[in-house]
Amino acid sequence: MTKLRVGVAGLGVVGGGLLSILMQKSERFDRAGIEVEIAGISARNRHRDRGVPLEGIKWYDDPVELARSDIDIFIELVGGADGTARAAVEAALSAGKHVITANKALIAEHGLHLARLAEQKGVSLFYEAAVAAGIPAIHALRGGAAASSIHRIVGILNGTCNYMLTQMAETGATYEAALQEAQRLGYAEADPTFDVGGFDAAHKLCILAIIGFDAAVDFKTISISGIQKITAEDIAAARQLNYRIRLLGIATRSESGLELSVHPALVDEEDPIARAAGPDNVLVFEGDPIGRIQISGPGAGAGPTAAAVAADIVTIARGGGGPVFNAPADRLRDLKVIDPERQTGR
Ligand code: HSE
Repeated sequence: MTKLRVGVAGLGVVGGGLLSILMQKSERFDRAGIEVEIAGISARNRHRDRGVPLEGIKWYDDPVELARSDIDIFIELVGGADGTARAAVEAALSAGKHVITANKALIAEHGLHLARLAEQKGVSLFYEAAVAAGIPAIHALRGGAAASSIHRIVGILNGTCNYMLTQMAETGATYEAALQEAQRLGYAEADPTFDVGGFDAAHKLCILAIIGFDAAVDFKTISISGIQKITAEDIAAARQLNYRIRLLGIATRSESGLELSVHPALVDEEDPIARAAGPDNVLVFEGDPIGRIQISGPGAGAGPTAAAVAADIVTIARGGGGPVFNAPADRLRDLKVIDPERQTGR
């Protein structure tokens, strides 16, 4: 039996979902020979009901203290690129703890620095839940596609926007009503501007591009536009022409350099990307010799996201290992970034 002591910081929708998985003593953990002890927890509000019994679990007001405590894995579900989340993850890695995070902003904006730290310390930093919730996008790129030369990554990377666009198209919901429902269902970020403004999708695209292209991608070089200006009339007009409006993340690597953008696009209704409905995400990787790989499934929500965090626990129990991205942080390439707006003269 492999025994692991975990500390969980951040007990929102995903944190609650994860505790519930861990407390149910998953049969799959049992069969895999993994025993997980929740050694400590931390959150902003100690008294909020999370739907799981927290009595008997050591409480930490300060996530940094939890990160340095007697644990094997620090699980960061606090969110945000800076502040508490970053301080706690740095503290955990510096103290030689493995880290699992669902924080795409943190990995997209500080991933190279954190990867260097993890690789120096010889510990794992896993973030499967940061991209497309339970869809094993990171595993696919770091695993099956690891020996291929990836030249294009395209996908629907935000469940909230996809939910809103499909609700507006299929039920005639207004933009505001669709957003409220996405928040109620637990898909949206704490600040939904990250979703509708395209920033959340851009964070995920940045992470995928670092892994897929072995490139030190700077998040700030991604051209981003969201869905805030999409109206019911736009959606109806697109449907009349047999198109769907989808928020796409597109990363392309060519001899001229990298092009990275997130923007709403018209997608032919027969295209599998257009068929993704509700909070589903779709990811397409194109490369040599692997060809065109497409994976899809729920891209947001407590269950699928917590499942991805729990899967990272299994990976660590099996030995984890390897660099944080596909190549060690110090061997990532500096590739020239092409500004898509300048190139098309927009
Ligand atoms: N707010 C995100 C989304 C959650 O809607 O996709 C999953 O990353």
